[in-house]
Amino acid sequence: MTSRTVALDSALHQYLLDITLTEHPVQRELREFTAGHRMAKMQIAPEQGQFMGWLARLIGARRYLEVGVFTGYSALTVALAMPEDGEIVACDVSETFTAIAREHWARAGVEHRIRLVLQPALRTLETLLAEGRAGQFDLAFIDADKPSYRDYYEACLELVRPGGVIAIDNIFLSGRAAAPQPEDPPGVHLVHAFNASLKNDPRIRQCVLPVGDGLTLCTRL
Ligand SMILES: C[S@@+](CC[C@H](N)C(=O)[O-])C[C@H]1O[C@@H](n2cnc3c(N)ncnc32)[C@H](O)[C@@H]1O
Repeated sequence: MTSRTVALDSALHQYLLDITLTEHPVQRELREFTAGHRMAKMQIAPEQGQFMGWLARLIGARRYLEVGVFTGYSALTVALAMPEDGEIVACDVSETFTAIAREHWARAGVEHRIRLVLQPALRTLETLLAEGRAGQFDLAFIDADKPSYRDYYEACLELVRPGGVIAIDNIFLSGRAAAPQPEDPPGVHLVHAFNASLKNDPRIRQCVLPVGDGLTLCTRL
């Protein structure tokens, strides 16, 4: 028994990966390729990917909305957990990052499930709403620019079905979200306020997993 989550040193983290990680070969190649990227820290941790694939299967996700793609690891993970007719709308602004994603999605044979939209994500979410796609997504993952988290959340809350899940990444901001300092950028203060607001949001049921940099999971009521 333990009264708090055990901190992971490198050895325990490796043990965690050893006993849980079941990556597709292309997933592994993408993760190893991205490890050499100058922005490698933007990718979700592999144990978080393992969780997200498991979650997508658990809820039988057929429609997945991703806000923040980078080199495509999280989208690939969920795509591989979806049925053949699964649909992913993947939002990003970077042609450069997502060129890597496209290449690996194609090599894993899931590119036909993923519609990548390159423009500010809020515009894509608003377009989906205007197209009548409210309540149609089973799972949404918010993992892009932090100052927009509130707007992404509000849009995703409309786009996921009742019982659907919104996962929100980096809610710890490496610990800075807990006690923002005056000199911290506005995004830190915004995430701090956003995190606090979810606890009693009557539209959802939530929990936080201390995986990666903190992952909030919300079920839409
Ligand atoms: C943390 S990374 C996403 C990591 C990805 N989920 C993964 O696991 O590999 C954040 C991504 O958000 C994208 N981004 C930043 N601002 C954005 C915006 N306004 N709209 C859409 N995407 C944005 C960046 O280009 C970057 O690729």
